[in-house]
Amino acid sequence: MKLKKTTYTINSLRHIPDMPERMRFAVLADFHGGDPDMVLDILRKDVPDAILITGDLINGYFPEGDGLIVEDRQNLLPFLESCAGIAPSFMSIGNHECLLCEEDLDVIRSAGITVLDNEWTKFTTGSGSVLIGGLTSAYAVSYRRFRDSLNDSLEEDMPYERYPFRRRPKDILKRPTISGWLDEFEKQEGYKILLSHHPEYWSLREPMLRNRKIDLVLSGHAHGGQWQFMGHGVLAPGQGFFPRFTHGVHYGPHGRLIVSRGLHNPFRCIPRLGNPCEVVYVNYLN
Ligand SMILES: [Fe+2]
Repeated sequence: MKLKKTTYTINSLRHIPDMPERMRFAVLADFHGGDPDMVLDILRKDVPDAILITGDLINGYFPEGDGLIVEDRQNLLPFLESCAGIAPSFMSIGNHECLLCEEDLDVIRSAGITVLDNEWTKFTTGSGSVLIGGLTSAYAVSYRRFRDSLNDSLEEDMPYERYPFRRRPKDILKRPTISGWLDEFEKQEGYKILLSHHPEYWSLREPMLRNRKIDLVLSGHAHGGQWQFMGHGVLAPGQGFFPRFTHGVHYGPHGRLIVSRGLHNPFRCIPRLGNPCEVVYVNYLN
């Protein structure tokens, strides 16, 4: 499968004193355990200031044994270690990471990745800094609540259930996000970037990121709408048929949304049409 590089050049919609003159980010969405070599080739040829991973690194099936999910996916940790060796790397949690437990996240952290699990951090480079936040998929929040409730009810001598029942909870479709922390994030000084796996959080469902004072939201998840005709996708998870947010740049009153088509096709039996996989680069010019 081919992988192309798509570059968007943007500037700030407002004056920000501490903002570097220029920055360059690579956005990696929906790796889904795909081919790391093609992605790493692009990153090594055009080294960005930071690598921003917007979730769905894995395919979210239950593991066969009791081992950690992230160690079960053989190409995942070498890929993440390579990313971290190329540039400072940050990730948010997508729906396919819903099963991951804190031990999984610790292993990802030990590979050199800053995991942003409903939190933000300051990233300083060159002459200035930006704030990078990560909004965790509601699927992950829902599964954690399910796991916590089961573990809370265990007798003292019963072992902790890392991946309880080997199935998803019935209420996962309720899909609540934890978005209260965004209120504080919005108030921060400086340029704010939010990694939000789901582009539908922009304006189709809570937390309605379009209306928040966030300069740049980066998303994936829609896989470009799987088939593209006349510049429009056909079907995307979370948005249904004829989705609005499958790729490209979208504008709100305070900032922008950039959606990646993703690095890999997770639906191996359904080919993409007119919809190449991509590494997105964002060039920021102040
Ligand atoms: Fe996804």
